[in-house]
Amino acid sequence: MEISWDTLHAGIAACQKCGLCQNIHNKVPGQGNGKADLMFIGEGPGADEDLQGLAFVGKAGQLLTKMIAAIGYTREEVYICNVVKCRPPQNRVPTPEEAAACMPYLRAQFSLVRPKVIVLLGATAARAVLGDQIRITRDRGKWVEKKGVFFMPTYHPAALLRDESKKRDAWADLKAVKAKLEETL
Ligand code: URA
Repeated sequence: MEISWDTLHAGIAACQKCGLCQNIHNKVPGQGNGKADLMFIGEGPGADEDLQGLAFVGKAGQLLTKMIAAIGYTREEVYICNVVKCRPPQNRVPTPEEAAACMPYLRAQFSLVRPKVIVLLGATAARAVLGDQIRITRDRGKWVEKKGVFFMPTYHPAALLRDESKKRDAWADLKAVKAKLEETL
C-alpha cells in the first residue's frame, strides 16, 4: 500500500536520520499540488525556508516563481520540494550521505504526486536523482526518461541570480518543459 501524505509528513517531522536536523528551526518537506503533472526539486532549504518551513520562499524562490509563471503555471499548480528537508549549516551542499538518508522521502513524494515531468534544479538534485555522473553544464537541457517520467536537469535559480548569462539556457530548458507537458497531457 502507498504511504499517505500524513504518514510522510509525520516521518519527516520525526526524522533524525542524519545530523542536519540538529540545527534547524523547521523541517521543509515541500508543498504544492499533491497531484501535479510538474514537479520541481531543489537542493535543500536556505535561511528563509528554514524559518518558514516552506520550500523556495527566499530570493531563489522568487525567481523560481517567475520561471514557473513563464511557462504558464502557478506555484500552487505544481509540486516543489528539495533533496534534503533540513537546512544544511551555512547553506553548504548536502553530503551524499545526507542526501541518501533523505531519499526515501523524495521517493515517497514521487509516488504520491506521480508527476509526468520533473525539473531538477542544479547539480545536487540532478545527481541525487539521476546519478553522480551528471554534470549540470554538460547535461542540462537533455531529457532523461525513466519509467515514463521525463526528467529535465537545469540550472538552479540561485545560479541564475549569480550569473545572468545562464538565463538564456535556463529559458530554453523551461520552454522544452512546457512543450513536453503539452505533448504529454
Ligand atoms: N534553494 C534550494 O535548493 N531550495 C530551497 O528551498 C531554497 C533555496
